Amino acid sequence: MNKIVVNGGRRLSGEVTVGGSKNAALPILFGGIVTGDVCTFSNLPRVSDVLQTLEILKFLGARIRFLQSGDVRVDYSSVRAACAPCTLTSAIRGSTYLLGAMLARFGKAELGGAGGCDFGSRPIDQHLLGFERMGAVVTCRESGVVLEAPNGLHGATIPLAMPSVGATANLMIAASLTEGETEIRNAAAEPHVAALAAFLGDAGARITGVGTDTICVQGVPKLHGTHNAIIPDMIEAGTYLCAGVACGGPVRVRAVCPEHLTPLLDAFSKMGAQIETGARSITVTAPKGYQCTDIVTGPFPAFPTDLHPQMAALFCLGNRASGEGSVTELVFESRFRYIEELRLMGAAVSVRDRCAFIQPSSLQAKKLRSPDLRGGAALLLAALATNGQSEITNASTIGRGYEHLEAKLRALGAHITVF
Ligand code: UD1
Repeated sequence: MNKIVVNGGRRLSGEVTVGGSKNAALPILFGGIVTGDVCTFSNLPRVSDVLQTLEILKFLGARIRFLQSGDVRVDYSSVRAACAPCTLTSAIRGSTYLLGAMLARFGKAELGGAGGCDFGSRPIDQHLLGFERMGAVVTCRESGVVLEAPNGLHGATIPLAMPSVGATANLMIAASLTEGETEIRNAAAEPHVAALAAFLGDAGARITGVGTDTICVQGVPKLHGTHNAIIPDMIEAGTYLCAGVACGGPVRVRAVCPEHLTPLLDAFSKMGAQIETGARSITVTAPKGYQCTDIVTGPFPAFPTDLHPQMAALFCLGNRASGEGSVTELVFESRFRYIEELRLMGAAVSVRDRCAFIQPSSLQAKKLRSPDLRGGAALLLAALATNGQSEITNASTIGRGYEHLEAKLRALGAHITVF
C-alpha cells in the first residue's frame, strides 16, 4: 500500500466484519516462543506488522504454514537461540516481545532495534527493570540491548512506574516459564493483555489477576502448544464506527466485543450519535451531524490512545460537527503529527502541551502524507468526509494495521483506490 486516493463527501453505510487484533496478535505470536511447541492461530489479521512478525519468527527457525482453513500453524520447537537482524526487528514495535520470550526460553536475548510509530521517545526501561528484578543482566550497547540469565530467571515483585502494555505483556511472557511467583504491580488491563494471558494460560501458564492492576504469574517448567483465536480488533472496529459518524451511517461493525469499546461509545453518545449494540455488533448513525466533545486518553478502561487521532478528525469536519472539541493525549508524549496534515485541509486546531483544541471548519480535499498508522487513519476519515479528491501518500503506515481496507471501505460505499 503506497498511496490512497479518495473521492470524498459520500454518505457511508453498510456492514464491516472486523478482523483480528494486531495489538493482541503480536505479543501472542512472539509469546508462542516460550511454548517450544506447535500453536495454531485463527483470525490472524494479514496486516504488514503481523507478516513482519512471522518473518522474524521464520528467521529464528520457526516453521510456519498457512493452512487451507485460514489458520496459521507455527512450530516453535525449531526456534534457535539467535538474534534476529535489526533490518527485520526495527520495522515493528512488537519485536520488543522477543526480549521476554527468548530470555525465558534460552537464558539470553538480544534486540538490535524495535520500530513502530514515532510518538516521541518510547523507552523500554520498565521492561528492562522487570527482567533485572527477575535476575537478568542487562547490557545496553549502541547496537542494541542484550539480556543474559545464564543461571536462569526467578520470580520477583515488579512495580511498574506506569501501566505499560508492552512491559506487562513482556514480563508475563517471561514469567510464565520462570520458576517461582512473579507479581506485576500497576499492570496494564487492556483487552490485548488479557488475550495474551488467555493464550499463555491455554498453553499451561498459571496467571491470575488479569484485568486488575496486579497480575500474578506462577511459573511452570514447561508449556505446551495450543490453539488461539485472536480477539477482534477494537481499534479497527472503532475506526469504521468513526467513519459511520463522520459520513452519516448507519455503519454496523460485526464480530466485535462491544465492551472493549465502551469509552468510544460513551463519547459517541455525548456527541448525539445513535448507537445500537448487539452481542457481537455495534451500529452507529449520525444523519444530521454531531456535537464535538472532549476526549482524554489513558490506560484501559480510559479512552484508547489508538483512537484519539480518528476522533480529532471527526471534530475538524465543519460540514458535520458543531461546537468545539478537544483531545488530551496522556499516554504518549508526542502524538499530534497528523494535525499538520489536517491543517493543510483547513482544520482549525491549536495544540498546547498535550491538548489539541479543535474548532470545526470547512475542509478541502488535499494531497496528504500519512505520518503514522492511526494518524493516517485520521487523514483517511477526513478525506472520506470531505468533497473532492484527496490523496494520502506513505500509506504503508496505514497498511500496518488495517486488513482489506479498500474492500471494506468500498463495501460501505466509499470511492477509494489503493495503489
Ligand atoms: C500502547 C497502548 C496500547 C496500544 C499500543 C499500540 C496504552 C496504555 N498503551 O502500548 O494500548 O495497543 O500502544 O499503539 O494505551 N513507557 C515507558 N517505559 C516503558 C514502557 C512504556 O516510559 O518501559 C511509557 C511509554 O513511552 C508511553 C506509556 O508508557 O508513554 C505507555 O506505553 P505502553 O503501554 O508500553 O505502550 P505500548 O505497549 O506501545
